[in-house]
Amino acid sequence: MLQPSAFLSLLFLLAAAARGGDYSRADFPADFVFGSGTSAYQYEGAAFEDGRTPSIWDTYAHSGHSGGATGDVACDGYHKYKEDIRLMLDMHLEAFRLSISWSRLIPNGRGPINPKGLEYYNNLIDELISHGIQPHVTLHHMDLPQALDDEYGGWLSRKIVKDFVVYADTCFREFGDRVLYWTTINEANIFSVGGYDEGASPPGHCSLPVQNNCSKGNSSIEPYIVGHNILLAHSAAVKLYKKKYKSTQNGFVGFNIYSFWFVPYTNSTEDVIATQRAKDFYIGWLVDPLIYGDYPRSVKKNVGKRLPAFTEYESKQIKGSIDFIGVNHYTTLYIKDNPSNLQIDNRDFDTDIAIEIKFKQGNELPDQYPIRPWGLYGLLEYLKQAYGDIPVYVHENGQLARRNGTLYDKSRVEYMHTYIGSMLDAIKNGSNTRGYFHWTFLDCFELLGGYGLSFGLYYVDLDDKYLTRYPKLSAHWYSNFLKGKSTSSNAITEVGDSTFVRQTG
Ligand code: NOJ
Repeated sequence: MLQPSAFLSLLFLLAAAARGGDYSRADFPADFVFGSGTSAYQYEGAAFEDGRTPSIWDTYAHSGHSGGATGDVACDGYHKYKEDIRLMLDMHLEAFRLSISWSRLIPNGRGPINPKGLEYYNNLIDELISHGIQPHVTLHHMDLPQALDDEYGGWLSRKIVKDFVVYADTCFREFGDRVLYWTTINEANIFSVGGYDEGASPPGHCSLPVQNNCSKGNSSIEPYIVGHNILLAHSAAVKLYKKKYKSTQNGFVGFNIYSFWFVPYTNSTEDVIATQRAKDFYIGWLVDPLIYGDYPRSVKKNVGKRLPAFTEYESKQIKGSIDFIGVNHYTTLYIKDNPSNLQIDNRDFDTDIAIEIKFKQGNELPDQYPIRPWGLYGLLEYLKQAYGDIPVYVHENGQLARRNGTLYDKSRVEYMHTYIGSMLDAIKNGSNTRGYFHWTFLDCFELLGGYGLSFGLYYVDLDDKYLTRYPKLSAHWYSNFLKGKSTSSNAITEVGDSTFVRQTG
């Protein structure tokens, strides 16, 4: 629940947003990093090249889930990374968030290292470092090697813990002399719910009450088993890092979740309590164990016996096993209490929360997100209140748009301008936020809509065999900001006037 101080801060923020919130790079702490990001399957392409084997995301995309689109070629980052790093340099990007494709580095998930995969990631990391761009590396971005899913059910089995630790060990050993910021799992909560409850992301499992034509799954229990195994695997990898590498490499290992911000639909007590429950399920479910050693009370109560329990040993290993929390935040939802969901048979994650999501402006998804920068402020403020001073990285934040060929992405500029401004307000109010990564650098393969939707600062011309990159208005705006220029609305107009607008089709 919002504390009175948070409420006052929120009012302050709304006033700041109304002012237009002019600020500059220099207003942020000197060691704060601004970057952008992508993930292996969405960016690299070369899916069948140099020994890489399929991941569960390859399989999911190839079975038509993204309207036939796949990451087989994507942005061809496997071959074009040097060109892209040049663009990052021109933009003054300070950090780049990337992920390693497990099945490129260790084909089939276990066994010998693929020398070509090792060479690619060494080159990519070296290229970033030699240009002064900090690599922030994620180990698992929805792309478990398919072989491990086939062999023992992947994340549904505890066998995953051992294989994940060997993979993490390989990455720490091979790249840890240059990589200081590691994230074990991207969007651990959404991976568990999207993949094993809703059937809406790899590996596409679901069962009733979800009606999504999945060939397998058990929505009532699988997301909770997967979440549990993820925590075990994450904490085992962190334990290894601390024992074997921390003293020489001095790096940091964190964990990433997706989080909406949630506000009550009405000010009724029921809606206020339901809103806190939404935070418990989306944030607390996987973050509470990392900080306090156990699941939140409301999650335990509503999920009951379907929620795996930690042994004392596991709880101790998990508690405190993060150096930072990574959050992916895009939008804010309005929450209404819905106790009737607790009456249905075969409950899943979504019904266990017992809420109804209300959109305040009609159907707001999926064309573009409503701009609610105060939601990022609320989220950062909440993380501070719930988890104390632990460092936070905004790992993903950005505006969705139809990919229609225009480079004039004014809504993305407004989104970035206001969300970054909101983050600054949270920092001024004591949030220990240490970095911001705009999602995403280029329009590549998108989880939500293949090549039909985009989040990129650069448009990639898919009809051109060189996959030429074109800066959008947002790339100019971000670059100006990173170069220390003003972010006022005037600055946005200036950028707009000098921008080449390309219309296709
Ligand atoms: C979530 C995921 O981490 C990323 O892969 C995806 O493209 C974006 N957010 C947007 O959907």
